[in-house]
Amino acid sequence: MQDRWVNQDDVCHRHERRDSCHNLRTPSGSKLLKLEITFRFAEQDLFTIADVPETGSQTVIARCRELAAISDTADGTCRTFLSPAMRRCYEVVSGWMTRVGMSVRLDAAGNLRGVLPGVEPGKRVFMLGSHLDTVRDAGPFDGILGVVIAIAIAESSNGKRLPFDLEVIGFSDEEGVRFVPFLGSRALAGTLDEETLKRTDHAGITMAQAIRDFGLQPADIPKLAITASALAFLEFHIEQGPVLDDAMESVGIVESIAGQSHARIKFIGSANHAGTTPMLRRHDALAAAAEWIGFVERIARSTPGLVATIGEVELRPGVSNVIPGEVQVSLDLRHAENQARQQAFDSLLHAAGEIARQRGLTALPTHARSLQTISMNEALTQRLAAAAPKDTRRMVSGAGHDAMILAPHIPTAMLFLRSPGGISHHPSETVLPEDVDLALEIGGRFIESLSDQYK
Ligand code: GLV
Ligand code: MN
Ligand code: MN
Repeated sequence: MQDRWVNQDDVCHRHERRDSCHNLRTPSGSKLLKLEITFRFAEQDLFTIADVPETGSQTVIARCRELAAISDTADGTCRTFLSPAMRRCYEVVSGWMTRVGMSVRLDAAGNLRGVLPGVEPGKRVFMLGSHLDTVRDAGPFDGILGVVIAIAIAESSNGKRLPFDLEVIGFSDEEGVRFVPFLGSRALAGTLDEETLKRTDHAGITMAQAIRDFGLQPADIPKLAITASALAFLEFHIEQGPVLDDAMESVGIVESIAGQSHARIKFIGSANHAGTTPMLRRHDALAAAAEWIGFVERIARSTPGLVATIGEVELRPGVSNVIPGEVQVSLDLRHAENQARQQAFDSLLHAAGEIARQRGLTALPTHARSLQTISMNEALTQRLAAAAPKDTRRMVSGAGHDAMILAPHIPTAMLFLRSPGGISHHPSETVLPEDVDLALEIGGRFIESLSDQYK
């Protein structure tokens, strides 16, 4: 029998079986772990589950799944910046933080922050965390896992006072579904500016107004920028790609996070009657956008390391018997090397203009913004490697993370957990209990080693 899953159907299948068996037979988390192992290797071992030791992974995974049920949508998981579901999420997560002995607050950017005071409260703060928001139709682990693991690591200190405060942060927004990405971590980096606060959501509400409506004060955001007392930041996250799973490895150490370029391109043609306008006299904005989208895909496929996604399309007037007059598409472009990404970005925007021109249209790029490839802190990464099994893989993250926003301002390191099937941003996204247990051990050893340095 195979011991890992190669496609999405297999992962879904495994989920259903694990959940049903959990409800059917297992009152305790330890049995759930064994069931997972049993399913991976030999179904007939199902009844040899009683003597498996309790581990922290069951609690972590159950909590992530509990949060996945807290959604702004009736189906699936979707929690966006300061939405009603996010309020409920704050209540649940702050309950877990409080039980560990943390003092909990919600900051002006909607970050949920639990502090376990050290021997000299306020003197030094070590931060652990990730984000609480999700994409639409999200999986249960992207972001959330890093927050829940951080709480479990704090819990494992068993009330012992560390030589620093341990702060667990659930960032308010990393995905940018409602406004733009990385709002929570940008507040700590001191880069959440007035322009961003003026951005509007689909209902026309500005970010500043959304913050006020939630009962928070946008004017307090500048006070959130981290100060000299902040020692370092560590983020745990699922890989969201296939590298660790393909190599059958549990965890990986992130060395750098690939840069990203984003833009919106508006193709402006002219709307006209679908039945009467001859083909050669049309200025069809969707046809131009489609030609460009095909070009983008060809370039990305033929450029090593480049990935390009057009994830949003808005069409006007959007009626079946009218030639589309205006189409706006998004572009998300990533590469580990800044120069390769920038060159591709420039040439794709140029191609949009050329394709539009040849068809008698115009193409207008807007909202262009880029994030450079960011390296993690070498010393902190060494410390993480020392806490991890020998020969743990070093890797580049293709996905963006809060760690990339904080890294220029504070020593930052990041640990990936394998994503079975390489699936993420999808409800089938999952983690393996043994990988979570290993991450918890690594986190515990990391805290010990940092404590040794500061005691
Ligand atoms: C975050 O998930 C991103 O990389 O877009
Ligand atoms: Mn994500
Ligand atoms: Mn994430």
